[in-house]
Amino acid sequence: MTIVIRNGTVVSPLGTSASDVLVDGERIVAVASASSGLADQWAASADRVIDAAGKYVLPGGIDAHTHMEMPFGGTSSVDTFSTGTTAAAWGGTTTIIDFAVQAKGTSLLSTLEKWHQKADGNCAVDYGFHMIVSDVNDGTLKEMETCIDAGVNSFKMFMAYPGVFYATDGEILRAMQKAKETGGTIMMHAENGIAIDQLVAQALAEGRTDPVYHGITRPPELEAEATYRAITLAKVTGAPLYIVHLSAAQALTAVANARNRGQNVFAETCPQYLFLSLDDLGRDDFEGSKFVCSPPLRPREHQAELWRGLRTNDLSVVSTDHCPFCFKDQKELGRGDFSKIPNGIPGVEHRMDLLHQGVLAGEISLSRWVEISSTTPARMFGLYPRKGAIAAGSDADIVVYDPAVKQTLSVETHHMNVDYSAYEGLEITGRVSTVLSRGSVVIDDGAFHGSTSHGVFLERELNQYLV
Ligand code: URP
Ligand code: ZN
Ligand code: ZN
Ligand code: ZN
Repeated sequence: MTIVIRNGTVVSPLGTSASDVLVDGERIVAVASASSGLADQWAASADRVIDAAGKYVLPGGIDAHTHMEMPFGGTSSVDTFSTGTTAAAWGGTTTIIDFAVQAKGTSLLSTLEKWHQKADGNCAVDYGFHMIVSDVNDGTLKEMETCIDAGVNSFKMFMAYPGVFYATDGEILRAMQKAKETGGTIMMHAENGIAIDQLVAQALAEGRTDPVYHGITRPPELEAEATYRAITLAKVTGAPLYIVHLSAAQALTAVANARNRGQNVFAETCPQYLFLSLDDLGRDDFEGSKFVCSPPLRPREHQAELWRGLRTNDLSVVSTDHCPFCFKDQKELGRGDFSKIPNGIPGVEHRMDLLHQGVLAGEISLSRWVEISSTTPARMFGLYPRKGAIAAGSDADIVVYDPAVKQTLSVETHHMNVDYSAYEGLEITGRVSTVLSRGSVVIDDGAFHGSTSHGVFLERELNQYLV
């Protein structure tokens, strides 16, 4: 099967160009300037010609932070690998990196096997795994080596959630030493969970039980403090550090300072922190529960700082932290006690579209849009140039994007398996028109043409983004 994509504007981190793309089988085999006339020759014998006039041609999005069918607080996130990767494809994301979650007392390798059983043969697009390490001991530290050999070389740890995922500074230090030794990257959920748990207990004891107190009991300072502490531990050990879901301006300052010193510290933020705020957490009738995630949504003032960080590369990646729980039967678990609301917001389908609004608003350039949503995550997580590039030899993961068409985000029209949209009624400009995953048409003219057994597991190389 050969496909020609012609007349479009190819966008890369280096700029834009009027170029045509030839796909043969699963790969891109040639990219040629439109003025070369090569597309005429290609089109003569191609199985399909896609006219991308007036549209952008982008490397498929890479969402480096998702949680499909993840156990949390006695329930489980509602998108399966099948529904979640299908929704990802609808939004122009052709690779996800999901988290395998080690339960305390179990091994990393059995965890990895368990996540393979969930995902293998059930994904519409390609996927990789990070490993959540919740039990640091000699055995699991040794197993980090085996995980790396199996293509899983990024390890998330938590400074929050005491008694569940929480790791002490000593445990984090040991895991970082192992990461330094093996070339792994430590990913950090940076919030001071010990202090937060006290604030939560005090709020509940005083009868402050509404969802908004989830935000108030997790102040930005306790994100900044943990971020700085993680950076310090990374400095002492020499390990690369990737701060996940950064939400607060104060935490961004800590990251920027470390990066200015030349340390291998990187951070991602998420669309919810760029487009939603503490006001949403304060919506009445328990609607605020739809917006409970950790770190929490912040006052709106933080958003300008996050956009600035995206421009300066103090924030290098935007991932969704897609973690959907239904309003009706799952968020409900925390009515009368905000600490029991399952943490997470759905969003895997909307990342490319929402970031495009940042392009239209002048917050980021077109090139930067592609860089933070595809090329940098590919490099950060060892997938480049197989993923993250429109180039000969790369996988034909390609999004043809119409920047002019308008759409309204809604639970009525989204494809995620969850009963609400965090962006209900939001009118946006731009929409995916065609998506290829390894050369197969997955989305085209408003329909899904893929298969939920198409996606393959990606064994990732080590971090290619280190200074
Ligand atoms: O609230 C969130 N972020 N839920 C997902 C789990 C995590 O900490 O990333
Ligand atoms: Zn987290
Ligand atoms: Zn997460
Ligand atoms: Zn069709």
